[in-house]
Amino acid sequence: MKRVIVAGTGASGMPYLVSVLNYLSALPEVETHLIMTESALEVMKRETDLTEEFFVSKASRYYGEKEIYAPIASGSFKTDGMLIIPCSTKTLSSVANGYSENLVSRAAEVTLKERRKLILVVRETPLSLMDIENMRKVALAGGVIMPASPGFYSRPKTIDDLVNFVAGRALSLLGVENDLYKEWKG
Ligand SMILES: Cc1cc2nc3c(=O)[nH]c(=O)nc-3n(C[C@H](O)[C@H](O)[C@H](O)COP(=O)(O)O)c2cc1C
Repeated sequence: MKRVIVAGTGASGMPYLVSVLNYLSALPEVETHLIMTESALEVMKRETDLTEEFFVSKASRYYGEKEIYAPIASGSFKTDGMLIIPCSTKTLSSVANGYSENLVSRAAEVTLKERRKLILVVRETPLSLMDIENMRKVALAGGVIMPASPGFYSRPKTIDDLVNFVAGRALSLLGVENDLYKEWKG
């Protein structure tokens, strides 16, 4: 069994999260703990026709950002890593600076202190100096910064191809091998 934490925050890119959750929920060997921030739920309404129930149904356990008593807020609850997708610059900043004011930043802090995998799929452009400095801090602390930027060398034909490229690469970094994107064979 694998146990992973996935968080959706209020950056643009809800289709990336949907793709990740559709993939994970089809794997019986993966237990997914999902956190959605309040802003993520707002962006979800803007970018998709889905409701919160969809996200609840795709996770083994579902949490709101205020649920600081959740097991994933403690390092004693073992996980195989955490993926924040999409990751806002606000959440990036709270992770980079150890400002654990909600369950997403607390679970990320725990993931780093326990030396587990942490991947932030940041969606912002252009980047401010603060964003760049915060990315540097997270990278130095052992996290992986993965910009939400799909490649075009696989000749994507649909928006789904572009979305799955980012979602698949993020899942691979989390240790979940998948066929959402094509490996470059040269
Ligand atoms: C439609 C919409 C799109 C947004 N897109 C982004 C984005 O791409 N990147 C980002 O960092 N913030 C974006 N924001 C702003 C964040 O939602 C806002 O900073 C929020 O406080 C983030 O909170 P959270 O990190 O707790 O989810 C967007 C907001 C809205 C309403």
